[in-house]
Amino acid sequence: MRFRRETAIALLAHGLALAPLLWLSHAVFAAALGADPVAELTRYSGQAAVIFLLLSLSARPLRMLTQWQWPLRLRRMLGLWAFTWASLHLLVYAVLDLGGYWPQLAEDLLKRPYITVGAIVWLLLLALAATSTKASVRRLGRHWKSLHRLVFVAAPLALAHAIWQEKTGLGDAVWQAPLLAVLLMTRWVAWIDGSRKQRPQ
Ligand code: HEM
Repeated sequence: MRFRRETAIALLAHGLALAPLLWLSHAVFAAALGADPVAELTRYSGQAAVIFLLLSLSARPLRMLTQWQWPLRLRRMLGLWAFTWASLHLLVYAVLDLGGYWPQLAEDLLKRPYITVGAIVWLLLLALAATSTKASVRRLGRHWKSLHRLVFVAAPLALAHAIWQEKTGLGDAVWQAPLLAVLLMTRWVAWIDGSRKQRPQ
């Protein structure tokens, strides 16, 4: 019974995670991305990457609050979606916006700080995605946890990148930054609590 419930939740989560990509494909083919489709593609893919990153960071706090197991089982899939969207975002910029003119991308990486920060976040997500397999967990041993704590660096940097490029106000960071602060604080409190319990009395 429990198995069937967890399978149903996993199937539902995978379906929901696929929905933004299906919507985007439909919008591209129906030419429904507005007057500046490339800007809309950049915005949509960047936002999707941040939202999947926030969802993956919500898994542990949700598990702590409810004792449910399934949030942790979905964490890897959510993180991989964040990386997929971030890669799509980079591709849209490099291929559609810059027309594949690589020297311009190199110049942007060096001269536009918000692009430099975006690239650092992408590299961090690449390292996390590349080491997300069970074989990597085994191979890296206790270093795996330390490496995957880089997600706590990647997420605030992703929001810094988004705020930096925003011309008017904070954009969606108005709700994403407080949510991220709460998620990071929850993890920090749990971590302090855990290390206090481990200390010999
Ligand atoms: C080399 C890597 C990256 C490049 C070149 C890049 C480039 C850009 C560009 C050109 C914009 C739009 C600027 C404008 O409209 O004037 C943007 C916005 C954004 N990017 Fe990136 N980005 C990169 C990495 C990332 C990553 C890794 C994430 C998330 C994990 C991300 C999330 C966002 C978000 C949320 C926005 C704001 C979207 C909005 O307007 O609401 N970017 N990025």
